[in-house]
Amino acid sequence: MTLDEVWERLESLFEKADLRPVEWAGGAVRWLDVTLLPWEEKWRETRSVERLAEAIRRLEIRGAPAIGVAAALGVAMAVHNAGGATRESLVEAGLRAAEVLRATRPTAYNLFWALERMKRVLQSPGPRSPGELRDRVLEEALRIQAEDIEANIRMGEHGAPLIPDGATVLTHCNTGALATAGYGTALGVIRTAWRRGRDIRVIATETRPLLQGARLTAWELRREGIPFKLVTDNSVGYLASNDLVDLAIVGADRILTTGHFANKIGTYMIAVLLKRHGKKMYTAAPTSTIDPRSRPGEFKIELRSPEEVTSIMGRLTIAPPGTDALNPAFDVTPPELLDAVVTERGVARPPFEESIPKLLEGG
Ligand code: MRU
Repeated sequence: MTLDEVWERLESLFEKADLRPVEWAGGAVRWLDVTLLPWEEKWRETRSVERLAEAIRRLEIRGAPAIGVAAALGVAMAVHNAGGATRESLVEAGLRAAEVLRATRPTAYNLFWALERMKRVLQSPGPRSPGELRDRVLEEALRIQAEDIEANIRMGEHGAPLIPDGATVLTHCNTGALATAGYGTALGVIRTAWRRGRDIRVIATETRPLLQGARLTAWELRREGIPFKLVTDNSVGYLASNDLVDLAIVGADRILTTGHFANKIGTYMIAVLLKRHGKKMYTAAPTSTIDPRSRPGEFKIELRSPEEVTSIMGRLTIAPPGTDALNPAFDVTPPELLDAVVTERGVARPPFEESIPKLLEGG
């Protein structure tokens, strides 16, 4: 596929994607700064890899698939703008950018997966001239972006049958168009069920400390017209024990072949409560989120700054001066609390140590 063909494919996918939260802008990367939603819709643009890395670290761009896409575009940007006319100087700029971007968020597997793909292109003997290499690297980044939208749409098709008519579906954090290249993973499954005429209601947890549920999921659900209620994170026990929720579908930052999955802090608590009350618990993620090598405990859970807990988005302090806080951004849910993993290649069910590797082989 040529660069022009990838562009064409991407343009037609964008029509289904609802939003394009991060995109290529002629040698720059452009993104919707989601730290400002729902107050302000502000787009930002940069040609600097350091600025892009800062945007990922600050969660201006967030959600594992969106982080992967942004990083891939960041490598393409570094190669595109590299001074020096030799192939070697371009490769060096690309590899340096990959190192900077790699150090942004440790849990989101899509980041490492996307950077590995970009590095493979940079290190392949294929493209000879600097011009060819620039095109090939950009093509790979755009391909990663297009594949993510396609995966989300397919995940919607595979996952929608898991949501029965009349169901109340709980979701946590934000897994919609804003967290991906467009459309969404868990929220994409909910979107597909809704667009197919399923009578559903959504419960969105606010997702402290950074309120991705209250700010972003609520914003996306309103745009799509899906009926929903926002709840505090500590309402889930009440909801599950009073049959006010039928199932939960959440995203993932990293899924292991054992079926353990890392997702936004609070996911494990939700899974325990849903299991206790006989409700279904699902995760939806592209296969690019599946880490084929790590075993439980072998990857890093991101710890973020205490200020995110002692304030509301840095706008209002809610604890006495000097209060220390612990702020793990993710937790790990074990496979015994999980009913299925929805991917673009199909739905994996227990025993996951058999079904997940089978999905990976099927690629
Ligand atoms: O810290 P965030 O906002 O990047 O956390 C995001 C999540 O936990 C999502 O559920 C996950 O990345 C999947 S997004 C499709």
